[in-house]
Amino acid sequence: MSVPILKRILGPILPLVDALALRLGYRSLRNDTYLAAFAQQLMRGEKSVLPIVQEERAFAIARALQFCASNKIVGAIYEFGVQEGASAELISRLANAIGYKAGLYLFDSFKGLPEVQGRDRYTDVWFEGKYAGGSAEADLVCSRLTKFRSRDSFEIIHGFYKDVLPRCDIRERAALIHIDCDLYSSARCALEFATKVVQDGTVLLFDDYYCFAGNPAFGERRAVAEWALRNTEISITQWFSYGWHGQAMICHKTVPQEADDE
Ligand SMILES: C[S@@+](CC[C@H](N)C(=O)[O-])C[C@H]1O[C@@H](n2cnc3c(N)ncnc32)[C@H](O)[C@@H]1O
Repeated sequence: MSVPILKRILGPILPLVDALALRLGYRSLRNDTYLAAFAQQLMRGEKSVLPIVQEERAFAIARALQFCASNKIVGAIYEFGVQEGASAELISRLANAIGYKAGLYLFDSFKGLPEVQGRDRYTDVWFEGKYAGGSAEADLVCSRLTKFRSRDSFEIIHGFYKDVLPRCDIRERAALIHIDCDLYSSARCALEFATKVVQDGTVLLFDDYYCFAGNPAFGERRAVAEWALRNTEISITQWFSYGWHGQAMICHKTVPQEADDE
């Protein structure tokens, strides 16, 4: 039977299979159907609104890791903004599920946000010390992650980015960079470091891209636009947005002349 005929027969059934799977507690393999069903359950009051952010982030991370695995993008995963390690755990579990092996570098002050300066003060959402979790937070991240990856496959780098990143000599090429540090000033530091490790195909996930009312003059949006202007050897594909907040991008390095046709 040809693929178009199969598609025509199965097409109307798939949403029903999805709905049934969801009822039975399984997740749909198809993001849009899953989210639509989730929204319906939400409206019926059967679900709380909180898990949706994690769900959408999980889909974005899974999609990014599948992209890296399929395109054979070899490299490490970098995360800027770790807090208690929720997204680092998600990354590790999904990488295991997909079978994508990569080291993980985690950067955080573990003292929360730095002093909020300049345009980052535009809203009162952000303030110095927000997300501060105390000195045991990095240990918590460590014990959380060792359930899903070996201790020598991840490194935690403590400190405020403006102090640690200029001195950091990690140069492993990046497959995926997860930027979840809220502020323009923090994202700017993270991206400045990223310049040294991005390769053709590095995926950038910006978790707070549409914060600051989604205004391009602020936050992670501003930082990445300025970074692209400063680094003309890197170009960027706007890939997809996720949730109300996130944006995925793919980095490209200029094609070397010898790779050109003719
Ligand atoms: C929203 S939280 C990260 C949440 C985490 N990705 C998760 O999913 O649970 C933001 C984190 O970024 C860190 N951060 C933001 N700016 C920073 C900076 N300039 N230097 C170091 N850490 C920073 C904060 O300490 C905080 O833990």
